[in-house]
Amino acid sequence: MTPLDGVRILDFTHVQSGPTCTQLLAWLGADVIKVERPGSGDATRNQLVDVPGADSLYFTMLNHNKRSFTLNTKDETGKEVLAKLIEECDVLVENFAPGALDRMGFGWDKVKELNPRMIMASVKGFGPGKFADCKVYENVAQCAGGSASTTGFPDDVPLVTGAQIGDSGTGLHLALGILAALLHRERTGRGQRVLAPMQDGVINLCRVKLRDQQRLEKGPLEEYSQYGKGIPFGDSTPRAGNDSGGGQPGRVLRCKGWETDPNAYTYFITQAAVWTQICDVIGKPEWKSDPEYATPPARLPKLDEVFDAIEEWTKTKTKFEVMEVCNPLGIPVGPILSMKEISEDEGLRRTGTIVEVDHPERGRYVSVGCPIKFSDHDVEVKRSPLLGEHTVEILSEVLGYEGGELDRVVQSGAVGTID
Ligand code: COA
Repeated sequence: MTPLDGVRILDFTHVQSGPTCTQLLAWLGADVIKVERPGSGDATRNQLVDVPGADSLYFTMLNHNKRSFTLNTKDETGKEVLAKLIEECDVLVENFAPGALDRMGFGWDKVKELNPRMIMASVKGFGPGKFADCKVYENVAQCAGGSASTTGFPDDVPLVTGAQIGDSGTGLHLALGILAALLHRERTGRGQRVLAPMQDGVINLCRVKLRDQQRLEKGPLEEYSQYGKGIPFGDSTPRAGNDSGGGQPGRVLRCKGWETDPNAYTYFITQAAVWTQICDVIGKPEWKSDPEYATPPARLPKLDEVFDAIEEWTKTKTKFEVMEVCNPLGIPVGPILSMKEISEDEGLRRTGTIVEVDHPERGRYVSVGCPIKFSDHDVEVKRSPLLGEHTVEILSEVLGYEGGELDRVVQSGAVGTID
């Protein structure tokens, strides 16, 4: 038995944010029925295609463990089928552009009328307000959510991050909202609407930067490298390069091989509690008792010198050797791992975070499995569905269409061409 056994999801999501959410729910055991437009389906099936004629990795990696149901929801028979599907499902998840569901004739009032227990969960770019009608993609959300203004180096342009905090991050927020709404429904019998705006999700992930904004109003941010360099602060949280966000100075430092390997770096935190161990490791035992270096406040104006000395040592070791030396001493360090290293990592493959999946059109590919581990439930990653692969199965098993009724729906063209 899986945590979401018996929960049926009407998955109206596309691209990345919504599919991240429903993929997670599928991994928790829900029956996720992905409703797609006949003929084309989720646009990502054909984006960044690497194997001609096969669903792209963009699609396959975001739609594991789902069933695909093709349905033209603007067709009259299609609307009839959709209404039945709404009656049969527990949760409707969507990330259409604002207003699309209303234009389809399935706004919240209609959905609630069809199924009062329904939880209708949406990702939108912005919450209610002046930007509510805007279409939003990942980088727009990163910019509007405060991430870009606080990412990068102070003397350079704002940067977006590689982690998809706008899309996948918001999908995670929405999944949490859905689980809470399911629990609430267990207790009250009532469904409800759940909204996760991408801007709000990014702001939530940038919480510590808003913390710093308020601290800045009271004085300079002393743990930022900019303070030690004597560069004055402006009126908003600046970009902090690779400074660590937690008040313990940290930087990315070169390791052995950095001249040719773009990822031969380590992150190194000079945590106050292990300062004496750091001094011993880097061959500066005199800094342990020297009042110019012995305390965190004394070191703040000297961080460049301190990290230069640490880097002289890290450059003599690979990023993994740095870990081997520092970890037993409690010194927090982390290797900068490339995607190649991650995809080949034996440990991650053993835990199922990196998986290999077979696909009938594209063959074997590597993907990210479920990042959450359960003691009672193993997550088996199943390949993403082909477009419309489960249409007939869902029409009969879930919606009860049989015989002449099934023929009528199939022949109407509302569910696309059935082989
Ligand atoms: N049958 C018939 N029509 C369908 C359909 C189906 N099965 N599925 C979708 N459509 C229609 C929609 O009803 C809509 O029609 P309308 O514009 O006439 O109302 C149309 O397809 C386009 O859908 P839409 O969601 O607006 O796609 P888009 O390509 O125009 O916009 C986004 C894409 C991502 C910008 C937009 O969906 C969006 O802003 N979503 C919310 C934020 C978000 O999730 N962004 C990140 C995506 S990773």
